[in-house]
Amino acid sequence: MSGLFITFEGPEGGGKSTNLGVFARALSDGGCEPLITREPGGTPIAERIREVLLSHHDEPMESDAELLLVFAARAQHLNSLIRPALAQGRVVISDRFTDATYAYQGGGRGIDKDRISVLENWVQGVLRPDLTLVFDLPVELGMERARARSQLDRFEVEEMTFFEAVRRTYLERAAVSPERYRIIDASGSLNEVREAMQPVIAEVLERWHA
Ligand SMILES: Nc1ncnc2c1ncn2[C@@H]1O[C@H](COP(=O)(O)OP(=O)(O)O)[C@@H](O)[C@H]1O
Ligand SMILES: [Mg+2]
Repeated sequence: MSGLFITFEGPEGGGKSTNLGVFARALSDGGCEPLITREPGGTPIAERIREVLLSHHDEPMESDAELLLVFAARAQHLNSLIRPALAQGRVVISDRFTDATYAYQGGGRGIDKDRISVLENWVQGVLRPDLTLVFDLPVELGMERARARSQLDRFEVEEMTFFEAVRRTYLERAAVSPERYRIIDASGSLNEVREAMQPVIAEVLERWHA
């Protein structure tokens, strides 16, 4: 496998989706055309599972059901889209991946991380992202941006303590494996965030051309 697998992570409103386009264009300009995708989703079946995960229902969703749906979508996405692209040597950028499962279902919902890790190994084998950008910002600011953006989905209506746990989990995971994570301060202006991404873009292009 010769491609490069990059993931964008972080709490709500950090600017993942906004900055993914900027990041991808910079890679294209550097001679590397990335495949852009997202989780949950990325393929027609996985996008239907996304719909179930994000929309509001008349009954509460069991956290185990939520966790298993996330990994069901991931199994589909990985095997039908991500793995084949990486096998062709492509750079793949995913808007969220398994770090989000540790953050939301683990940190947020309180599911034991060992159980998440079992599913991670089952569905992914040894595959892990090569590089993960964490768009970090105070929870209040992120929610302010998310509220201004659109109607809140099933996750976005959670309590502040939920999002604090999400943010903390991302930062803890980044602290344990600094070689894989690049924390981007997402609290500043769009220009400032763009500037903060520059070293990471340069690093990816360097690794790609190596
Ligand atoms: N640095 C920023 N400053 C001000 N507004 C921002 C910034 N980054 C993103 N936004 C806005 O905040 C909202 C959330 O950004 P988005 O990219 O959807 O975040 P995410 O995908 O991480 O949830 C969008 O409306 C976006 O235009
Ligand atoms: Mg987004």
